[in-house]
Amino acid sequence: MRLDRFLSETTPLTRSLAKRALKNGEVTLNGEPIKQSSIHVDTQQDEVKLNGETLVLVGLRYLMMHKPVDVECTARRGLYPRVVDLIDLPKAERLQPVGRLDVDTTGLLLLTDDGQWSHRVTSPRHRCAKVYIAQLAEPMEGEAAQWAVNQAAEGIMLDGEETPTQPATLRFITPLQAELTITEGRYHQVKRMFVALGNHVNSLHRHSIGGVALPDDLAPGEWRELTPSEVASF
Ligand code: URA
Repeated sequence: MRLDRFLSETTPLTRSLAKRALKNGEVTLNGEPIKQSSIHVDTQQDEVKLNGETLVLVGLRYLMMHKPVDVECTARRGLYPRVVDLIDLPKAERLQPVGRLDVDTTGLLLLTDDGQWSHRVTSPRHRCAKVYIAQLAEPMEGEAAQWAVNQAAEGIMLDGEETPTQPATLRFITPLQAELTITEGRYHQVKRMFVALGNHVNSLHRHSIGGVALPDDLAPGEWRELTPSEVASF
């Protein structure tokens, strides 16, 4: 890897600031001062230091977050803080949410810079189950609740779409609280499914994705790295 790129990958410096640091004599390669930005370094063997501090290339990163309300899953800065603003890691903005949650939705959010892994989690072909808990505006019980459960299992035609949703599992915890398990990630899918069922979602929380559930001790706004077995489970 080119030295200026290595510096920009391992520090908060942009490529041009990395070049400036090189020119200023702040960088050593295997103990020798170095000024050439185009030189190639062996990322496993060579020792690069910036102002005396050894730089290490981080591999692909996989995180989970308890997304709070009023935080956005977008890359661009907008009205609300972004999820990456809550992550105090170098180059946090390189982490992409794995499937978005709405600004008012809470719960489990995965983030990574591994595009292939992200695709495996989100692609409907892989049928990865996402479990949501919805607080409903209107109570549903008895026959109405059973009808809704059957509709979700059969697939629901959402407004403006041409194909029904994949079979989903709906379970009423109380008449006003339902657990919905879906294997796709269409735009506002859960809220739109409840609209199609004649209801309205007052608040929404994602409990799990595949075999990974939000841990009880991860408070809203907190994050942690996924374990290797959690990463491999997808
Ligand atoms: N479905 C929704 O409607 N909103 C979300 O945030 C996630 C799934």
